[in-house]
Amino acid sequence: MRSEDRREGFTLWFTGIPASGKTTLSMAVERELRRRGLRFVQRLDGDIVRQDLTRDLGFSKEDRDENIRRVAFVASLLSKNGVATLCAFVSPYREARRLAREKCHNFIEVYVKCPVEVAIKRDPKGLYKKALAGQIKNFTGIDDPYEEPENPEIVVETDKLSIEECVERIMSYLEQRGLVPPKPEEVSG
Ligand code: ADX
Repeated sequence: MRSEDRREGFTLWFTGIPASGKTTLSMAVERELRRRGLRFVQRLDGDIVRQDLTRDLGFSKEDRDENIRRVAFVASLLSKNGVATLCAFVSPYREARRLAREKCHNFIEVYVKCPVEVAIKRDPKGLYKKALAGQIKNFTGIDDPYEEPENPEIVVETDKLSIEECVERIMSYLEQRGLVPPKPEEVSG
């Protein structure tokens, strides 16, 4: 049996306000995991999941909680079966994240921290602009709450660190937990 076939699954749960860097970071971590030889990696992202599994849901507290509940169910199945599962959701409510933690195997909360002023400047989808103009209601960080994680396993401040530095921090945490193989030696010459 290949060592990869015995590898433990885990759930990396990226939480943070819109435009904090969750999607970019989870994609970069996925690339790094595959570079380390992990074959079973699955990313679940709000922008994609909401077009399918949770397309019937909006952004009220009830709908967000239901969104996270369904995603946590899928992540629990994957992570229990050896898959490195990367979830990138605003997931603004502590209680919903706590329930996800209870269900998922090796749940690792990554707080993707970024001041709202910086997120407003980034605004890749132009949604902050609309929210500030009152065209979108209940937008996280503007007129809807974001409950900061109290004891996340990892915090990455995306206004202070580069994406590479954030990935490095996450990978060393996973290494320490024995969930990924160590970084391969750089081949010189
Ligand atoms: S969550 O709150 O239920 O976890 P999720 O991560 O799935 O949210 O979706 C967030 C994405 O939906 C944002 O990146 C943004 O593009 C879009 N969006 C649309 N309306 C809102 C809103 N009111 N609040 C936050 N994000 C919104």
